[in-house]
Amino acid sequence: MTPHLSDMEFRLLRDLIYEQCGIFLAENKAYLVENRLAGLLEQSGSSTFGEFYLKVKNLPHSDRLCTLMVDAITTNETSWFRDQYPYNVLREKILPEFDRQIAEGRKRRIDIWSAACSTGQEPYSTAITVLDFYTASRKETLCHNWVHILATDISTSSLARANEGRYDSIAVSRGLEQKHLQRYFAQEAKGWKIDDRVKKMVSFRHDNLKLSVQTVQTFDIIFLRNVMIYFSESLKRELLTRMAKLLSPNGYLFLGTGETTSGYTTLFEMVEFGKAIYYRKKP
Ligand SMILES: C[S@@+](CC[C@H](N)C(=O)[O-])C[C@H]1O[C@@H](n2cnc3c(N)ncnc32)[C@H](O)[C@@H]1O
Repeated sequence: MTPHLSDMEFRLLRDLIYEQCGIFLAENKAYLVENRLAGLLEQSGSSTFGEFYLKVKNLPHSDRLCTLMVDAITTNETSWFRDQYPYNVLREKILPEFDRQIAEGRKRRIDIWSAACSTGQEPYSTAITVLDFYTASRKETLCHNWVHILATDISTSSLARANEGRYDSIAVSRGLEQKHLQRYFAQEAKGWKIDDRVKKMVSFRHDNLKLSVQTVQTFDIIFLRNVMIYFSESLKRELLTRMAKLLSPNGYLFLGTGETTSGYTTLFEMVEFGKAIYYRKKP
């Protein structure tokens, strides 16, 4: 039987989780900590949540037990072409704009970052949109030379699944059109495997959004979707400011439908396209 999580144990674990990955758990989320970490108690040889806390608290973030704790706490819910509109905006507005700049010699690369990519549906949907776009001009092979998608997440198990690129029939039924399934996936005994044309456009890497990345690279488009909802107000502010620095001039930011930059930073302007809302970095 799983031991009960006391109020004190909840507060200690909540603070540790926040410190490690920025996920902010309100008082009413004790049940979530209890349910999701219960399995790790046995694995770590702890008989109470307090004992588990004492084991994890002094370990480096890279230790397997910390990784498993963060993995258990993250919510990796995702789907193909989630909410549709970011992909419509990409296809109809942003890719034609960037492609014109490339044709005129004013741009050399299109760098896209999927900053909380979960099991890969978001970066792969982006890659499929890019490939579809360039198929019309017969540049679907060539475009790999200038379009690069970096996909990162804190959850190592999600990243491993993303990198494998294998999805069961339930996963492919969530948002994927038949034409894309036929064109970009190969059927296997237990599901579907993403095609190499899509896969080779995406590089997966572990990254913790709570920590500031040491990179000189900038991005033309950042997807930061459905992850800020888990963060504290101060981390949202800090993260959005950091994202603005990592975007190239006039770069674009996509957030989840319930998320906004408003009230956190003035570094972005809101762009509306039909029912879609996205953000452009101010010059
Ligand atoms: C609900 S999923 C959203 C996935 C995708 N962006 C989408 O909109 O479908 C949230 C993802 O954020 C990741 N995440 C949570 N905290 C993170 C952090 N500190 N750094 C990087 N990724 C994080 C989780 O592991 C999870 O895969």
